[in-house]
Amino acid sequence: MSTLAIHNGRVIDPALGRDGIADVVIVDGRIARVGPNEGDAVVEAERIDATGLVVAPGFVDLHTHLREPGFEYKETIATGTAAAARGGFTTVCAMPNTSPPLDSRAAVESVLREADASARVRVLPIGCITHGRAGKELAPAGELAGAGVVALSDDGDAVADPSLMRHALEYSTRFHLPIAQHCEDPRLVRDGQMHEGWVATRLGLRGRPASAEETFVARDIALAELTGAHLHICHVSTAGSVALIRAARERGAHVTTEVTPHHLTLTHEEVAFGASYAELRYNTDAKVNPPLREERDLEALIAALRDGVIDCIATDHAPHATSDKEIEFDLAAAGISGLETAFGLCMRLVHAGQVDLPTLIERLTVGPATAWGLDRRPGLEGLGTLAPGAVGDVVLLDPAAEWTVDPAAFASRGRNTPLAGATLRGFVAATIFGGNIVHQTERAVAL
Ligand code: DOR
Ligand code: ZN
Repeated sequence: MSTLAIHNGRVIDPALGRDGIADVVIVDGRIARVGPNEGDAVVEAERIDATGLVVAPGFVDLHTHLREPGFEYKETIATGTAAAARGGFTTVCAMPNTSPPLDSRAAVESVLREADASARVRVLPIGCITHGRAGKELAPAGELAGAGVVALSDDGDAVADPSLMRHALEYSTRFHLPIAQHCEDPRLVRDGQMHEGWVATRLGLRGRPASAEETFVARDIALAELTGAHLHICHVSTAGSVALIRAARERGAHVTTEVTPHHLTLTHEEVAFGASYAELRYNTDAKVNPPLREERDLEALIAALRDGVIDCIATDHAPHATSDKEIEFDLAAAGISGLETAFGLCMRLVHAGQVDLPTLIERLTVGPATAWGLDRRPGLEGLGTLAPGAVGDVVLLDPAAEWTVDPAAFASRGRNTPLAGATLRGFVAATIFGGNIVHQTERAVAL
């Protein structure tokens, strides 16, 4: 029997409404007891002192690009999950835009096998919606469900054909899988490089309009209501999308939504300006799809996150190699390496008084777990909570600690972040996966 006792932290477990000083005891990989001084009652245990730290369920990321197989020069399952552990994430859902894409049982099984061998945390694969992500014909959803995927997505691209999207939604209901759509109409974004607005004009770059997202959000909500299927909207980024989703939820449509830390906190100005407006730059580390938007979008996203119209925060961790980014803006790959900065970046909202800490933790834990019903999967009961019997996934957080983002020190191979050199206030002190410590800093000391 192996026991880990985490002593004297401020335990925040939003699912159970718990917020107070307590011990958390994990026995044989599962939560055994949570309560004041519970750790003192266990005799033989490994012990961590969490005095002054917040103790919460491990974070769940519904949107992670691990790049393996096929793009190991950008990231591997080993490095991506090491980055997850450092970011406090104990479950990551792996997007299928790999090479080959995850559109067959064999491809999904290869990811699961590699995860078994090298992953630091839990990897739940996502299968493709269409064969080869080409948007022409449906991938074999039943076969993918049987292989263990937790959702279907062609992320990176939207399923543009409305009839195919309708059939994908219809078909998905048989396997109880959400369809996670990257909502941007390719015919409206064309070769757009960033948000269509004054910064794009100033830089002379072609824009991707907010309407490219909003027309697909509206269309796909209508198709979800037609079919009764579960539509998940990836990385929502505009105020207009939020209004559409809010109305759909009020009608009772089965629509869930994620937002990224960068869309909540950074604007399109990040692409052109550093510390001042004096100097103009073309910052490819701020190039991402959908693009960073405007202040009024951030306000709508934050309000929707706060009131639960947006279910969860997902990183869209999109690692790229230096050679993909240190090139002309229009040739550079889109994406931000986000796992290791997610908590610190989101804490800006807490420090600004826009979201409270228990709500932020909810949107990183039980929010995503229940949005996709992951907590009802065999072996994952209670995922995103510290309920007795739940998986022993725990994160220790220092919400006040300041640190400077140094991409060279990332566990991820992707050093592509617009936050290099930024000071963040909010630090992951330790991460425990299945009762084992998978990330630890000097802030969380052994007793
Ligand atoms: O910026 C992005 N990068 N957006 C996506 O949807 C895909 C991702 C990637 O795979 O690099
Ligand atoms: Zn996407």
